[in-house]
Amino acid sequence: MKVIGLGSQVALAKSIARKLSCKFSIAEITQFPDGEAKIRILSDVRNEVAVVVKSLYPANDAVIEIILAASACRAAGAKKVVLVCPYMAYMRQDKSFHPHEAVSARIIAKLLSLYGDAIITIDPHLHRIKHLQQIFSMKAVTLSAMPLIEEYINKRIKNAVIIGPDSESSQWDMQVAKICHLPFTILKKQRQSSYNVKIKFDDTLQVKGKNVILIDDIVSSGRTLLKTIKHLKKFSPKGIYCFCTHGIFAGDAAAKLLKTGAKLISTNTIPSRFTRLDVAETLAKRLMKNI
Ligand code: R5P
Repeated sequence: MKVIGLGSQVALAKSIARKLSCKFSIAEITQFPDGEAKIRILSDVRNEVAVVVKSLYPANDAVIEIILAASACRAAGAKKVVLVCPYMAYMRQDKSFHPHEAVSARIIAKLLSLYGDAIITIDPHLHRIKHLQQIFSMKAVTLSAMPLIEEYINKRIKNAVIIGPDSESSQWDMQVAKICHLPFTILKKQRQSSYNVKIKFDDTLQVKGKNVILIDDIVSSGRTLLKTIKHLKKFSPKGIYCFCTHGIFAGDAAAKLLKTGAKLISTNTIPSRFTRLDVAETLAKRLMKNI
C-alpha cells in the first residue's frame, strides 16, 4: 500500500502511512495560468494499492485534483485506487430544492466512482440519502469521528448537556449522549439561505450552570451555531463547547463564534486552528481491513 497526500492533507496522509507502516508519497500539484491543475505522483505506485488522501475542500478544486491523482495512479500501474476523502462536500445538495437544480450529491458520487475502486469518508452529511452506497457505484465506507468527540468529552467536560442544533444532527448527538451518559435535546432548524437560519428553541431546557455541548457534522457559515449559542447564553450556562467533524469556518464564522466565548473543537478532516481531534487512527484502522 502507498498513501498519497494531496495539498492540505499531506500531514494527515503521512500520519496514516506511519500508523500503517507503509510507504508515503506526495503528489505535486501545479497550476497553469488559467487555473488548470496538473498532478504528478512523485513516486512509483506500480502494483501498489494507491490510497489518495484529500478532503473535498475547497470543494471544486479538490474534485479535479482527486480525479487527476486517481487517474495518474491507475495509469502508473496501481493495482487498486482507494480514495480517502475525510470531508465529502456536495452531500447537502441531496435533492433539487428548486426547479432545475442539479442534485450535486448524486452527480459527484457518480463522477468519483469512475476513478476509484473504493472511497472512505467520515461523517458524511447523509439526510435524504441514507447510505453512501445508494449513490456511489464503487465501494463506499462511512466512518465516524464521534468516538473521538466522546473521548474528549469523557476526559474533560463534566456536568454537561448535549444539544443538537437540527434534526440532521440527531444521528450524532444521540450516539454521543448515549456513550457519555448525558441528557440531550434536538432543536428544530429552518434554513432560509446559507447565512440565514431560524431555530426553534425549547425554553424548558435546563442549562443554567451547566456545560452545554453542541455537536454538528459541519460548521460552514457558523450561523447554525451562532443562533443557538446566542439564545442559550440568555439562560446562563457555565460554558459552551461546540464540536464538529468538519470545521469549514467560512468567512467571518470563526471570528463571530469566538466572540461568543464558546470553545470550538474540530477534527483534522479540514485542518484549522480549531483542530484538536485527529482522524488518522480511525482511517488507518479501516485501511488495515479489506477494502
Ligand atoms: C446541516 O444541516 C448541517 O448539519 C450543519 O448544521 C450545517 O452544515 C451548518 O451550516 P452553517 O455553519 O452554515 O450554519
